[in-house]
Amino acid sequence: MESKDKLVHRALLVAKKEIAAGWYLFDLEAPLLARAAPGQFVQLRIGSRTDPLLRRPLSVHYADPERGRIRLLSRVSGGGTALAASYRQGEELDLLGPLGQGFPFLDREEPALLVGGGIGMAPLYFAAVQRRRAALPFELLLGGRSSALLPPDDYFSGDRLRPLIVTDDGSRGGKGTVTALLEQRLEKVKEPLRVHACGPAPMLARVVELARSAGAAVYLSLEARMGCGVGACLGCVHPFLREGRIEYRRVCRDGPVFDGEEVYFGD
Ligand SMILES: Cc1cc2nc3c(=O)[nH]c(=O)nc-3n(C[C@H](O)[C@H](O)[C@H](O)COP(=O)(O)OP(=O)(O)OC[C@H]3O[C@@H](n4cnc5c(N)ncnc54)[C@H](O)[C@@H]3O)c2cc1C
Ligand code: FES
Repeated sequence: MESKDKLVHRALLVAKKEIAAGWYLFDLEAPLLARAAPGQFVQLRIGSRTDPLLRRPLSVHYADPERGRIRLLSRVSGGGTALAASYRQGEELDLLGPLGQGFPFLDREEPALLVGGGIGMAPLYFAAVQRRRAALPFELLLGGRSSALLPPDDYFSGDRLRPLIVTDDGSRGGKGTVTALLEQRLEKVKEPLRVHACGPAPMLARVVELARSAGAAVYLSLEARMGCGVGACLGCVHPFLREGRIEYRRVCRDGPVFDGEEVYFGD
């Protein structure tokens, strides 16, 4: 029998689908990974052991412990993710996980604003599904460059998520950025709330400013280039400002989700 603490898994690819230009869904049979929480991730070994040398981090996009399955959503952004796109149904993938600390307080009553920029939507979709199933209030705010670079609307209807979507060019939803959308929603929601976000660094920095001025707690999932993924190589460290001093923490092990008030984005 497999140990529950086992980190390396061979997972059968039971289905693969391209849901938007260069965005691939992988449904995998992986019972021990299916206990992952929103915000946790896996490190996927791609190709031969030497090329690419390093595993690539991907968020758990959805996990179903009853069926023993997880779903990953991978956007092609370079050589590794392009190779991953060529996987076929029936292949076995080599995964390390579940890794990292997920979004805290997702089981609390306070309304949650879940904000995803581009592929940053991957972990927030999972958070939204969990909140909807627990009948807890949330809004899912998503932004992308254009409609073709986001999942189609019917992708969200199965889980009845009804995200608010904006695009830079206005080709879907409102025209503008997801942070401008967040600003509008923060003006409307007067109760105490939590903001959870994942996306590019400039977006996250703005999310913190907006949450701070609205008096909302804010948690960010950071994207860092990763080596080992388990806290040993220090390849993923990011600066944090705590009690007036800069300190470095490992995104893979101490995060990837952190209290947004402490994340240092530079002056
Ligand atoms: C915790 C975590 C969760 C992630 N979840 C997802 C996910 O669910 N789906 C998904 O598609 N992607 C996710 N990413 C980003 C993904 O890991 C990178 O896109 C991937 O490693 C790129 O590998 P590559 O070989 O295709 O590209 P490379 O050839 O290595 O790089 C191509 C481009 O991507 C940038 N890049 C590479 N690695 C990262 C990284 N770790 N973060 C940000 N930019 C990077 C490079 O700067 C370069 O511009 C996540 C990253 C982290 C740290
Ligand atoms: S990737 Fe090695 S310590 Fe984080």
